[in-house]
Amino acid sequence: MVPESLASLEGRHLLLGVTGSIAAYKAAELVRLFKKAGAEVQVVMTPDATRFITPLTLGTLSEREVLVDLFPENEPGSWTKHVHLGRWADLAVVAPATAQTLARLAHGFCDTMLAATLLSARCPVLLCPAMDHDMYHHPATQRNLELLRRYGYEILPPEFGELASGLKGDGRLPDPERIAAHVAALLARRHSLAGKHVLVTAGPTREMIDPVRCLTNPSTGTMGFALARAAARRGARVTLVTGPTLLPTPPGVTRIDVTSAQEMYEVVLQHADTADFVFMAAAVADYTPVETAPSKLKKEADELVLRLRRTPDILAELGRRRRPDQVLVGFAMETDNALENAREKLRRKNLDWIALNRLNEPGAGFGTGTNRLTLLHRSGHLEELPLLPKDEAAEALLDRVLREIPSG
Ligand SMILES: Cc1cc2nc3c(=O)[nH]c(=O)nc-3n(C[C@H](O)[C@H](O)[C@H](O)COP(=O)(O)O)c2cc1C
Repeated sequence: MVPESLASLEGRHLLLGVTGSIAAYKAAELVRLFKKAGAEVQVVMTPDATRFITPLTLGTLSEREVLVDLFPENEPGSWTKHVHLGRWADLAVVAPATAQTLARLAHGFCDTMLAATLLSARCPVLLCPAMDHDMYHHPATQRNLELLRRYGYEILPPEFGELASGLKGDGRLPDPERIAAHVAALLARRHSLAGKHVLVTAGPTREMIDPVRCLTNPSTGTMGFALARAAARRGARVTLVTGPTLLPTPPGVTRIDVTSAQEMYEVVLQHADTADFVFMAAAVADYTPVETAPSKLKKEADELVLRLRRTPDILAELGRRRRPDQVLVGFAMETDNALENAREKLRRKNLDWIALNRLNEPGAGFGTGTNRLTLLHRSGHLEELPLLPKDEAAEALLDRVLREIPSG
């Protein structure tokens, strides 16, 4: 019996990358699970993986010839095979993924059949790292994983448990059943926003006082970029309007850079009409200098008075103009009476959802890689999400918001 959780695998094309880890034997069970669920499986092994498990075993289970060599001797002229494979696959999963293969992928090396295939793949790619505890926690490996996340790779973190070294720690490859269930969930999610236009704002704004000074805030844009990335992964057309940030553009996302609140207002309104979902994650300045000095202000007087005026309220304007079928999600960053203020903002601005950031909690809010969101729906429903990496917080938020869509 195929578990219901694997139903989305039926008829799918899966590419399974296997690398030189002691956990490579688990790939055999994974192939079996994928095949049993009705998927077609193409295994690609690194040359070092063949020292751990034979291509004969994986080829027999997958009923397809396993690919290992980038330059196969008896098949001259097959150099473009990796490109076709990258397009054939609905999803690629590398399990186990060694530190070496993670490093290769993070830095764009193309010296194995597996790396070449993944570099040209258009489908989602799930990496399942497996290694010794200290290798996993080495800053080089962690940095590579961070880079890979930014490039849009999905990562299934290893588990804590007994390792091949005899030690206990992080680095254990999850069981094949868990990996298969994760692959199935990714595929089911994949098309959940197909054909939809998602508009996301991110980052701070900068209100110029003179050509070299500005009013701004500590937002880094991480949460908005995570949302844009997650929406693109689900098949949406994504427009990301961002204030100044150093973050790279997530794959498949159309990015528009703006500086001031006024510019963000204009660009957002230009794109809002066609948007099915709007996520306003930017930290937009509420006030801007009444005048921007044309040249640098000299430091002469001991005190300087800045006159400020309100910036346009983007969210309130979106709430006024919204189509009945448009879903509008705001963010709130509050220091006092957080819940009451967020509820009030939800109602006053005519939003469907508000995601409340807790500024006072460790690991949440500005400039951190994690976030603890409280989600409020206009119906009064409230859900506290746990402290999560921002990518996972973005996925959880999308899951909740999408549940609201009437089926069909
Ligand atoms: C017995 C043995 C077990 C190994 N297990 C792992 C492992 O679990 N994870 C890992 O990252 N490297 C492991 N290695 C090291 C890799 O095999 C080595 O870095 C290899 O070059 C990986 O290449 P590949 O990623 O191209 O397969 C192991 C090596 C040996 C000899």
